[in-house]
Amino acid sequence: MSHQRIVFSEDLQDGELRAIEHEGLHLLVSRVAGQYFVTDNLCSHGRVLLSKGKLRGKHIICPLHGARFDVTTGQCLSGPTQQPIKTYATELSVGELTILLQADESR
Ligand code: FES
Repeated sequence: MSHQRIVFSEDLQDGELRAIEHEGLHLLVSRVAGQYFVTDNLCSHGRVLLSKGKLRGKHIICPLHGARFDVTTGQCLSGPTQQPIKTYATELSVGELTILLQADESR
């Protein structure tokens, strides 16, 4: 299966977020306990940018209505929706994080 790769330097600290926009796709990179996780950056409830919310441990909290998502699984844990957010595979090598998008995920 073909992949598209987004590469950037891994320079976040634990608890920090980064929003990435790539060809119309909104992605959220979160660092939790030394590991990087990549999910959609749009809340599944109202298409609000989750990067404007707060990361608490492995939970990102939507700034609009407070939905809480687990960035490690994309699962919605509480709030006005139960719809998960999508997660993306990553590869980490020295100083660089690569996000792997399947061909149908890039626009
Ligand atoms: S827009 Fe995120 S919980 Fe409503």
